[in-house]
Amino acid sequence: MRLATVDDTQALGRRLAAVLQPGDLVVLSGPLGAGKTALTQGIGQGLGVTARVTSPTFVIARVHQGRVPLVHVDAYRLRDAGRVEIDDLDLDIEIDDSVVVVEWGEGIVEQLSDSHVEVRLERHDDDSRTATLEWVGPRWADGAPNLDA
Ligand SMILES: Nc1ncnc2c1ncn2[C@@H]1O[C@H](COP(=O)(O)OP(=O)(O)O)[C@@H](O)[C@H]1O
Ligand SMILES: [Mg+2]
Repeated sequence: MRLATVDDTQALGRRLAAVLQPGDLVVLSGPLGAGKTALTQGIGQGLGVTARVTSPTFVIARVHQGRVPLVHVDAYRLRDAGRVEIDDLDLDIEIDDSVVVVEWGEGIVEQLSDSHVEVRLERHDDDSRTATLEWVGPRWADGAPNLDA
């Protein structure tokens, strides 16, 4: 889907949050500036996170309390290490109780869960973005949730 402005990117995050439950894993891919953090901000809004969601680059992972806790991971510096294990994230919460969103997670975090949503973000010359969603695993066996609204 086409995302003309950063507000559209955040609105997609809010709609995505509406179908997420504790234990869900969201993997965000796309180059620097594609809108991964902006999408995570929308997810946070949808989960009732009141704290500001910023890039966790220097801490790898950050936990935001909301109706459901949001674990926001920036896996950029973990990419060379290969697959990411829970312990690498140094969290003091249970990921089964949280929604986990991982920037730069493609190819290295999918095994954290039997299911995940992948959101691939692309940036175009006119500065708009495109989001492509892929729903993977038994969690979505009933089909891709409808995010229209
Ligand atoms: N759909 C969009 N249209 C225009 N600008 C956007 C859009 N989505 C995000 N941005 C802007 O792009 C910049 C980078 O976004 P960010 O979420 O930090 O990217 P990433 O985390 O992928 O590096 C921010 O200034 C943000 O406001
Ligand atoms: Mg980012």
